[in-house]
Amino acid sequence: MNNYQKITVKPITGALGAEISNVDLSALEDPTFDEIYTAFLEHQVIFFRDQTLTPGDQVAFAKRFGDIHFHPYLNGMDEHPEILEIVREPGDAYTFGSTWHSDQMFNPRPAKATMLYAKETPPVGGDTLFASMYLAHDGLSEGMRRMLSNVKTWNDGDRNRNGRASRYANAKSMVGQMRDPGDLVTSAAHPLIRTHPETGRKGLYFGIHAQALEGFEDNEAKPLLHYLRDHSTRPEYTCRFRWKPGSLAIWDNRCVQHKALSDYTERRHMHRVTIAGDEPF
Ligand code: SIN
Repeated sequence: MNNYQKITVKPITGALGAEISNVDLSALEDPTFDEIYTAFLEHQVIFFRDQTLTPGDQVAFAKRFGDIHFHPYLNGMDEHPEILEIVREPGDAYTFGSTWHSDQMFNPRPAKATMLYAKETPPVGGDTLFASMYLAHDGLSEGMRRMLSNVKTWNDGDRNRNGRASRYANAKSMVGQMRDPGDLVTSAAHPLIRTHPETGRKGLYFGIHAQALEGFEDNEAKPLLHYLRDHSTRPEYTCRFRWKPGSLAIWDNRCVQHKALSDYTERRHMHRVTIAGDEPF
């Protein structure tokens, strides 16, 4: 555990995730940001409460983590294209991000991090789950790790997965944001066991976008993919965050999967920014 001078860091489970207090994200000095970044690498997902941020404040904070990554299938806000509005209205049949995934795994250079800021939340439900891919990796037997050590997943974006794009169309409030990705590449192969470029730790790099294993027949890959979906999201590798308006989370897609729960009926409105990443190795 690092020694923090400027911020207070309180882990929320033994697996991953920490709540950070004593911070105003709209007025950050460099030494405070440096500690926030250290906590982000240490805890994999960090949470803040009671923040009052304009879209400009959120984008400025996000840019301290790196360049902005733009979504290939969805447009951002008119005035702030870096921000994707994730809205579920009462009656929407679709919840964005409701299967376990790591953001933009279908991109050859997937998103490094994602920042989600809660504008409006249901009185109950709508939590987000996170799972540590370091623990998922460390929890595999030595034999399984050896077998998977040089395996690559093949990851497909929504354009390539039957019926997925049309599922956005069920989300009343997000359909207007849809866009054609044009020539953007939305399929990519990645190592199943990935080395984190900053911490040097190994983790499983996995999520719903992983549809096949390179060099495997489908009937060989399917049981392994199924096993890895179950294994990587075991409850002891996870934490769960309860949102309130003004809450903000930042997670590290290089070592975390996440999943939005669709257990609510009232309006939920979030502002999401993703940070550009490197080619996984
Ligand atoms: C996402 O997958 O980025 C959305 C997560 C959420 O809305 O909780």
